[in-house]
Amino acid sequence: MQKLLIKGKRELSGKISISGSKNATLPILAASILGKQVTLKNIPLVKDIFTMVELLNFIGLETKIYKKKNIIKIKNSGTKINTLAPYKLVKTMRAGVLVLGSLLTKYGKAKVSLPGGCAIGSRPVDLHLFALKKLGAKIKIKDGYIFAEVKKRLKGTTILFPSVSVGATENALLASINAEGKTILKNCAIEPEVLDLISFLKKLGAIIKVKGRTIIISKNKIKSFKIIHKIIFDRIELGTYMIAGALMAKKEITINNIDPKIVKSEIEILKKIGVKIIKKKNSVIIKKNKSLRKINIKTRPYPGFPTDLQAQLMVLLTQAKGISKIKEDIFENRFMHVPELKRMGAQIEIKNKTAIITGPTKLTGAEVMATDLRASVSLVLAGLVAENRTVINRIYHLDRGYEFLENKLKSCKAEINRV
Ligand code: EPZ
Repeated sequence: MQKLLIKGKRELSGKISISGSKNATLPILAASILGKQVTLKNIPLVKDIFTMVELLNFIGLETKIYKKKNIIKIKNSGTKINTLAPYKLVKTMRAGVLVLGSLLTKYGKAKVSLPGGCAIGSRPVDLHLFALKKLGAKIKIKDGYIFAEVKKRLKGTTILFPSVSVGATENALLASINAEGKTILKNCAIEPEVLDLISFLKKLGAIIKVKGRTIIISKNKIKSFKIIHKIIFDRIELGTYMIAGALMAKKEITINNIDPKIVKSEIEILKKIGVKIIKKKNSVIIKKNKSLRKINIKTRPYPGFPTDLQAQLMVLLTQAKGISKIKEDIFENRFMHVPELKRMGAQIEIKNKTAIITGPTKLTGAEVMATDLRASVSLVLAGLVAENRTVINRIYHLDRGYEFLENKLKSCKAEINRV
């Protein structure tokens, strides 16, 4: 089991470049089932992507990854397609459930393992199935699998989601691509990753309009030409490194390959806390700041403050003056990082889904354990701030979603090594 060793209190300076978004690449890989020859650029070389590619291979697509160029080519010659997503692949990477929409709309049937829960919550897929049923799919759950099929073709209709769900919006979008007639999806997730999936589907020939939280998919003619798509940058990785800069910049750090407009609310919140941020066209500069102020926030669907940055922001708030509050409103159990941070000296109490953080507190290095992707990166951030040495176990969680994390931090003078 690999570990990360961090010697804290090393001030950061230099440049970090942001990788492509894992959460945009995953649905777009599922959507590549609908294409013939797809080339994706700027893909992040992280574990979840390799698992999703393994799933596409299992289904019968030909894939080739060019690691040096962060490019993947996917071919669907249409022969020997296996419309099955097995438990062994979906259990470790829940986004595998996104192949359901593509397989159903293209082949009229799919057998997809229920993804099951994960550390941060039960992660149901009822909203995904609700939408597919509305489009005319027959759904049966048996032996831990979703059996979906449609006699002829899915039929476009109007679907109002009872609550906002990124995955359910994406599965409904994929399923509607070959449906007869127009589909109107209401109360959708409009995360940048969903919009990147939409821009990919438009290249496939779909006609899609987004108005607020309503997405309209009308008559489609799926072209089967070669499609080239560059994946959007990872805004959660960006937020993570902005917070690293806010915590430990010697003078300033520059973070590039991004579009600051996409992370407007994160930047506003960091500025409210007292972080000095200079926005450029495709980068941001995070400058050292004297003191940080407390804040109260709630995690919200985009464009609100993202739940995927909640753990990272909590570390920043341990260094802010006063009592801050973070309400986790999206997932039912996303505070696993709290006990670990408390072992490093943080003063955090949890009261019904709200973390109450008293700062500033001195953090000291400890041996800690990663529990899920974003919790583990919050332990890295705490290790950068803490006195002495921090050892982080189970860093396979980190490898699911952060490309070259230690190299990027090392290039900014952090003392961090994988053993
Ligand atoms: C996506 O997960 C992201 N994953 C998550 O990022 C992210 O935290 C989440 O959206 C929220 O932004 C990918 O894009 C691969 P949801 P998803 O459906 O689609 C409930 C990371 O760290 N819900 O928007 O699964 C659900 O339990 C990961 O990269 C239902 O009740 O999230 C949650 O409470 C973690 N029924 C809320 O909705 C459903 O059918 C939002 O979940 C689906 C979801």
